[in-house]
Amino acid sequence: VINLKKRFDFFISSEEDIISARQRVRQFATELGFEQTDTILIATAVSEITRNIIKYAKNGKIEFSSISLDQKEGIEIYASDEGPGIPDIELALQDGFSTGFGLGLGLPGAKRLMDEFEIESKVNLGTTIKMRKWIEK
Ligand SMILES: Nc1ncnc2c1ncn2[C@@H]1O[C@H](COP(=O)(O)OP(=O)(O)OP(=O)(O)O)[C@@H](O)[C@H]1O
Ligand SMILES: [Mg+2]
Repeated sequence: VINLKKRFDFFISSEEDIISARQRVRQFATELGFEQTDTILIATAVSEITRNIIKYAKNGKIEFSSISLDQKEGIEIYASDEGPGIPDIELALQDGFSTGFGLGLGLPGAKRLMDEFEIESKVNLGTTIKMRKWIEK
């Protein structure tokens, strides 16, 4: 069973929050003991998820937690919004799929950058994304 300690919430409601969420998670990941390269990967995943919240849902929240499992330690990032939802998650995770005239690389990119990645979504109700990364030892 994963042991989770919630550390802070980050509310997202404007474009500037994309940059501040990125900076904040880099700082947090560094505190947790991630190497610099990994903090950049995590921050990039967070900016894509944050950008999508702004673009599709207008606002939302990200919860940041530290996690541990046996000897492993890591980060859990849980994003939630009450936006339009994603009708077909598998499709949304394909490279190049976009309903917003984007490159369609945000979600599949974030998934590749993290170790674990789960989306739940209901049309008209919203979307949650849980992603985790473990510290390399
Ligand atoms: N939070 C969300 N709420 C509703 N739909 C979303 C959300 N996040 C992603 N989507 C849907 O999933 C699609 C794929 O997202 P993804 O981030 O991969 O691409 P994009 O945002 O369209 O383009 P890019 O991120 O490359 O600029 C989006 O076009 C949108 O239809
Ligand atoms: Mg995107």
